[in-house]
Amino acid sequence: MSQRPSIAFAKIATPKKGSVVVLAADGGGLSEAASACDPQGLLKKAFGVADFSGKLAASIEVLAPHGTEYDRLAAVGTGKTDALDERAWNRIGGAAFAAARKTGEVTIVADLDGTEPSADDVASLALGVMLSAYAFDKYKTKKDNGKGGAPKPAKVTILCANPTAAKKAFATAEAIAGGVLLARDLVNEPANVLGTVEFADKAKELEKLGVKVEILTEKEMKKLGMAALLGVAQGSARPARLAVMRWDGGKAKDQPVAFIGKGVVFDSGGISIKPAGGMEDMKGDMGGAAAVTGLMHALAARKAKVNAVGIIGLVENMPDANAQRPGDIVTSMSGQTIEVINTDAEGRLVLADALWYCNERFKPRFMINLATLTGAVIVALGNEHAGLFSNNDELADRLLAAGKDTGDKVWRLPLAPEYDKLIDSKNADMKNTGGRNAGSITAAQFLQRFVKDTPWAHLDIAGTAMGSPSSEINQSWASGFGVRLLDRLVRDHYEG
Ligand code: BES
Ligand code: MN
Ligand code: ZN
Repeated sequence: MSQRPSIAFAKIATPKKGSVVVLAADGGGLSEAASACDPQGLLKKAFGVADFSGKLAASIEVLAPHGTEYDRLAAVGTGKTDALDERAWNRIGGAAFAAARKTGEVTIVADLDGTEPSADDVASLALGVMLSAYAFDKYKTKKDNGKGGAPKPAKVTILCANPTAAKKAFATAEAIAGGVLLARDLVNEPANVLGTVEFADKAKELEKLGVKVEILTEKEMKKLGMAALLGVAQGSARPARLAVMRWDGGKAKDQPVAFIGKGVVFDSGGISIKPAGGMEDMKGDMGGAAAVTGLMHALAARKAKVNAVGIIGLVENMPDANAQRPGDIVTSMSGQTIEVINTDAEGRLVLADALWYCNERFKPRFMINLATLTGAVIVALGNEHAGLFSNNDELADRLLAAGKDTGDKVWRLPLAPEYDKLIDSKNADMKNTGGRNAGSITAAQFLQRFVKDTPWAHLDIAGTAMGSPSSEINQSWASGFGVRLLDRLVRDHYEG
C-alpha cells in the first residue's frame, strides 16, 4: 500500500509556499485567484513558449518561480469550462497532483474564471487526487525520491469557494476511493503473498467497518455440494474458500442486492496449462473478487442505505497429481452436471456454485457477477470497456449509465439460445467450453444456467481490471475497475 496524501479544504487565498497548482481554461484563461499566485505573469509566458492552450488535463510547470516562495507553480487545463462533468474533474485532480510531483506541500486552487466549481466538482477533483496518488511500491526497497528513504506523504490543500460543503461531499468520495484502492492492492499483490486464505483474511478485515463476514471452508462447501468450485482447487496446495460479506444498511425487510466475484488467486490453466508468456498476469485473476471486496468496503465506509451481499469464490488453479483432468464430469451445487473440456475455463466453474448458492440463500433483488473470465473479451473490447451480459434490460441500462458517469465503462454483448446450444455436452448436462467462436458469449451462457429468473448481469473484466494504459487517475497495473461502477449503481437506484 502506498502512502495516502492527506487532503484538506480551505477558502480561496494566495498560498505562500510549497507547490501551487492553478486551473487554466480553454485558451489559457486564469481566474483572479490563479493570477494572484503568479505576480510576474510567468505562467502566461510559459503557456506561449510551450504552446499550452488549457486542454483538459494538460499541464505545465514553472520551477522556483521568480517573485514567490513557491517550489513550483503549475497550471492544469480544464478545456471548455461549460462541459465539465465528474470524470473531467477526476482527471483534473489527477493531473494537478501529478504536476505537483505528488510530494511535499501541495495547494490546488480550485477556481475558474467566471463559473464557480460546485462542492461536488471539488470533491470529484479530490477523488482524482486520491486515485492518482496510488502506487504499488511496497516491494521497492529503494524509494524513488532521489534522496533515499521513504517519501513523505503529500499534504494537499484544496482552495475553493465553499470548503465546508466540499469537505462533506468528499466524505463519500473518500469511502469510494478506499474501496478502489483496496481492489487495486488485492489485484497487484503477487500470488505467493495473496493466496486463498490470505484473501479471505482481507475480506474478514471488513468487519472493522461493520460488515458481517463468514468464511466457508472446503468441508462446508463439500457438504453444500459445490463440486464445480472445489474441482478447480483440487490441484493446488491452497484450500478453497468462499467468503460471504454482508452489509445491512437498509431496512430489515429489504431484499438484498448481491455481487459475486471470481477469485482465482492464480490461474496457471491447470492441466490445460497456459503458455509461459504473460502467465505472471494471472496473479490478477481474482479481479472480480477484488472489486466485490472493494465495493463492500465502499458501501460500508459511506454507510450506504442498502442491504448488500458480496460473495467471492477463492481458489487457485494449478496442475498437480491431484488436479482435475479434461474429461472429468462434476456435479455442481445446482445438481446440473458439467463436463470439464478445458481446465483453463475454470472461472465459470467457480461462479456456477457461487451464483447458485447466492440465489438460494439470499433470494436477492439482482445478482451481478464480476470476473476476469475470458481472453476473448479483450480481443473484442480491448482495455476500454468491460463486457456486459444480462437477462434484464433495466439492469443492463442502469449499468451502462453508471459506466458513463464514473468512467468504469461497460458494453453490452448478446445472449441467445443459439449460443447456449454451443455448450451442450454429449456426456453431461453441459461442457465448460463452447469452442473457438464467441468465447465470451458462451462463457456468459454457461453462467446464465445458474441464475434461474433472478435479474442478473455478468461483467467480463479481463481487459479492464488490469493492464489498462496509464491515465491521470491510475498509473498502476491494477485499476480497481467495478468499484465505482457498482457503488454508483447502488447509489442511483437501490438506496433509501
Ligand atoms: N483467467 C482467464 C481469462 C483471462 C485471460 C483473464 C487474459 C485475463 C487476461 C480464464 O480463466 C481463461 O483462461 N479463459 C480461457 C477460456 C478458454 C479455455 C475457453 C481463455 O480466455 O482463453
Ligand atoms: Mn483460466
Ligand atoms: Zn481464469
